[in-house]
Amino acid sequence: MLPAVEYGSAAMAALLLRDLDQVVSPAGTSAPLRGRALGRLVVLERGYVLCEGDRIARVGSMAELASADVPSDAVEVDGRGSSALPGLVDCHTHACFAGDRAEEFALRAGGASYEELHAAGGGILATVRATRAAGEQELAHAVERHRGWMLAHGTTTFEAKSGYGLDRATELAQLRAIAAAGGVPTWLGAHAVPPEFPDADAYLDEALRDVLPEAADVAEAADVFLERGAFDAAQARRYLEACAAAGLALRLHADQFTEAGGVRLAVELGARSVDHLEATGPEGVQTLARSDVVAVLLPVAALFLGRPMPPARALVDAGAAVALATDFNPGSAFCESLAVVMSLACTQLGLTPAEALSACTVNAAHVLGRSDRLGRLVPGYSADVVLLDVSDWRYLPYHLGGEHVAVVVKEGEVVWER
Ligand code: NIG
Ligand code: FE
Repeated sequence: MLPAVEYGSAAMAALLLRDLDQVVSPAGTSAPLRGRALGRLVVLERGYVLCEGDRIARVGSMAELASADVPSDAVEVDGRGSSALPGLVDCHTHACFAGDRAEEFALRAGGASYEELHAAGGGILATVRATRAAGEQELAHAVERHRGWMLAHGTTTFEAKSGYGLDRATELAQLRAIAAAGGVPTWLGAHAVPPEFPDADAYLDEALRDVLPEAADVAEAADVFLERGAFDAAQARRYLEACAAAGLALRLHADQFTEAGGVRLAVELGARSVDHLEATGPEGVQTLARSDVVAVLLPVAALFLGRPMPPARALVDAGAAVALATDFNPGSAFCESLAVVMSLACTQLGLTPAEALSACTVNAAHVLGRSDRLGRLVPGYSADVVLLDVSDWRYLPYHLGGEHVAVVVKEGEVVWER
């Protein structure tokens, strides 16, 4: 049983999570993890995690915990019957949007396709209309609300993209709203061509001239949707090269429906990641395996749209760096739970629970440039910890749709409790 913990705005001096049935962390110190190393975890039985300020001070087994190691003012949490994991990292979301697409969901359930709805001015463009109509404050509240949903599922760090403004004011408002909510902002300035432009190139001319300079001050990375009906490889290259010159890290949405050169472009430009890959064939798998680009897999999007699953097992076996994320958005993946993503990874992608955990902790942190402080339970790392109300951490992927996240600690503070 986990007793109630008092928490407030002041950072806790020390927090001792004690008598945990399991303390689980990806093994080693390097990132990203590839091949067999992806599935190697350190699992301590009867362990503890001691947080001091916003950092992890010590991790070990209870038998070796001396009272002299624990600051006298430490708040203690009784972890009997529970397990501890690193806070989960969601490295790909579209959490800043207004409105919803419940009607589109019903139409798709009746047989309409995602790409058809997009071509008819619905889909992404429907969310663009709703997001443009919302003010910055409404967008900020939306991100905060979505952040709360994520936290309740154990996500302590999230990335979020713009891309539902596609005009200067709304794109910048989205990026600021994401940063204000504590998210890692990515400028998805090339998500779709808004209807007021005759073509993609005309839109990119304006976006790169008028939005990029300020977007680069707020965002950490840039992203593009390289796909038929969105941006082609030449347009994606132009956009990404300009963004790299402005100091942004690069990400791509590619091979979601068709292979259109996104993997090659990602490797050539030294992108942090290429995301989706539902349509990637054996050549793309080999190209990624020889590169430093992380393959970010989004099995909820494949499930939600009834698409084939990405070739996860082949990627891991070939030695590619693989991360998992939700793709949380109102159209193709209305799901904020990395536990559900991990379940799908185990049942649909052929990954083991251990591989799935590393893919949404240390490898996801690497995609966000933070693997030196996030994604592991080791001294010196950010004190971001998830406690499950079960002794075996594997219930997280095993219990599909289960609710085992009991306590969430971020930077040494209990920020959520069931
Ligand atoms: O990652 N594919 C492009 N973008 C998002 C979907 C956005 C939307 O449908 O609103 C994705 O699936
Ligand atoms: Fe996405």
